[in-house]
Amino acid sequence: MAEYDKDKQAKEYYLDTPVNNYGFFLKGAHSLDWGMKNRLSRIFRPDTGKTVMLAIDHGYFQGPTTGLERPDVNIVPLMPYADAIMLTRGILRTTVPPTLTKAVVMRCSGGPSILKELSDEELAVDIEDAIRMNVVAITLQIFIGGEFETRSIHNMTRLVDMGLRYGIPTMAVTAVGKDMVRDAKYFRLACRMAAELGAQIVKTYYVPEDFDTITASCPVPIVMAGGKKLPELEALTMSRRAIDEGASGVDMGRNIFQSDAPLAMMKAVNKVVHEQMSPQDAFDYFNTIKAEG
Ligand code: 5RP
Repeated sequence: MAEYDKDKQAKEYYLDTPVNNYGFFLKGAHSLDWGMKNRLSRIFRPDTGKTVMLAIDHGYFQGPTTGLERPDVNIVPLMPYADAIMLTRGILRTTVPPTLTKAVVMRCSGGPSILKELSDEELAVDIEDAIRMNVVAITLQIFIGGEFETRSIHNMTRLVDMGLRYGIPTMAVTAVGKDMVRDAKYFRLACRMAAELGAQIVKTYYVPEDFDTITASCPVPIVMAGGKKLPELEALTMSRRAIDEGASGVDMGRNIFQSDAPLAMMKAVNKVVHEQMSPQDAFDYFNTIKAEG
């Protein structure tokens, strides 16, 4: 007998089971499309809601940064321990094996070097090339209060529009000019502007006072930038505090690859972010892994 003719009793329609509407675990993302949510779920672990991102894009304006002279030697072995890697298309194509299945967050802005005004950036990657490289998110700096503030915001809104066309989230990084005060008031302004103008993720710096007001007033997930190299226990403490005060993860570079034991640091940061480990326990864990070589 054809399937069409089978009587109702032989089939199971689960008439008493309501359809699962799959609420989404990430702040501010419930109205996004399937592709966007799926990509976000590759950056932020659905089981913890958090991410450990490894930032290695520094060369795009400052050349071979300490620790990044040979990313094929020092950095590629760390990648399996990150949820996502943030890098340029140049390093991705030349240096990262395409067998890597980690989420790629691609730096899409550039222009000035450290010798010039850093806020003078333009978009530097076509969305088609980002798609070709199978990226999970696209990213750029915004320079609130900087000389080219409006241009950097316009770069961001264009990137957001391109990303929305293809279901690719945009992460805005709040860059801080040399002469600006890094305080909660500044970062509340910068993070909120980024989210209001469409960024689906914001990356910003930790401040010891009122960081929770930055995360509370930003309607999308915030990931904490690492900043300059700190002693490992301090970097782990900063990460713990950022998570406890509402960050959805970290995106660290120098505090990992400039550590004298980068792999141990990578693993210790994972413990803090995904396993609620205390900074001291994570530091002990770091030292154990480091001692194992
Ligand atoms: C600023 C960036 C960098 O990728 C990132 O912030 C640098 O990482 P870290 O400060 O942890 O070394 O987005 O250009």
